[in-house]
Amino acid sequence: MSQLNRKNEHVEIAEKFFNKPKQSDYDSLAFVHQSFPEMSVNDVDIRTSFLDFHMSSPFYINAMTGGSEKTEKINAQLAQVAAATGVAIASGSQSAALKDPNVTSSFKVLRQYNPAGLIFANLGADHSVENALRAIDMLQANAIQLHVNAPQELIMPEGDRDFHHWLTSIEAVVKQVDVPVIVKEVGFGMSRNTLSLLNEIGVETVDLSGRGGTNFAAIENVRRASHSLDFLENWGQSTIISLLEAQSFLTKMNLLASGGVRNSFDIIKSLSLGAKAVGASGFFLHSILNDGVDSTIQTIENWQEELKLMMTLLGKKTIPELQETDLIISGSVRDWCLAREID
Ligand code: FNR
Repeated sequence: MSQLNRKNEHVEIAEKFFNKPKQSDYDSLAFVHQSFPEMSVNDVDIRTSFLDFHMSSPFYINAMTGGSEKTEKINAQLAQVAAATGVAIASGSQSAALKDPNVTSSFKVLRQYNPAGLIFANLGADHSVENALRAIDMLQANAIQLHVNAPQELIMPEGDRDFHHWLTSIEAVVKQVDVPVIVKEVGFGMSRNTLSLLNEIGVETVDLSGRGGTNFAAIENVRRASHSLDFLENWGQSTIISLLEAQSFLTKMNLLASGGVRNSFDIIKSLSLGAKAVGASGFFLHSILNDGVDSTIQTIENWQEELKLMMTLLGKKTIPELQETDLIISGSVRDWCLAREID
């Protein structure tokens, strides 16, 4: 299977699964309504900051694609959306472009159509410092995401089987590249033990990317010619559970959240649990493929407006203030907190 076909298949299968009903742990979280907000919508500031980045919106278009003609078109459209709205955007894994210079243009469109935007490069956790520098240079990227995806690799017949070196490789990149490194899951979430290991090797920023949206176990099962490992399709922590696991790291690391984000309500719940910014992939892919650039820009503007309305209802003027919001946690998410002694 060539890289090119793999990239196209990921997009096609992710889109095919997009509307499949999924249980969401976001629904296990509720805010407590207060009748007196005591502020006006004009008081709200939805800007967010982490590292040296100042983002006009607390959400971004997360890593997806590149590496083929079809995905070049998708990246060009996503880049236009990012440029028009000022939201940050992450590239899909650039490993294909490191092997085959003919496909670099499918990634470079991210910078071409979004010259002044905040762009994150993307590679797997096993890449060398040299490859990380090449990926950053390709996009003049402001940061690099290193993705960790062990379940996906194991389900792919051609995937990695040895994970000894991931932490050492990440540590080398963190020490030797001069842009920030964001270690990112791909929809399986993170635990506090994982965060502790990353914190020890100097990683300052993580994207928890939890279960609940795009499911790479399900995607790779469709692509498998031999028997399917369908029992792994519920593997991993949801985004909400990952955020709860991460509570003891709130002051030690910058937490970004993604995985299964459907709307501005999911975004505000993630921010209230301490995320500095929230990513969405499958949602934006579906929006671009079905509704196009203008409609996706409109959706982002709606989300910006909706966040302001909800922050007013909660009586919170800034993103950091959201962390003081009272939240009620129910069902299996509550059981997880009890079992893991998270308060
Ligand atoms: C992804 N994702 C991803 N992540 C990554 O770090 N590198 C990659 O190359 C890709 N490729 C990719 C392709 C497609 C088509 C999709 C939809 C997603 C994973 C993505 O960034 C995110 O972690 C998960 O999709 C969970 O978020 P959503 O989709 O539920 O919002």
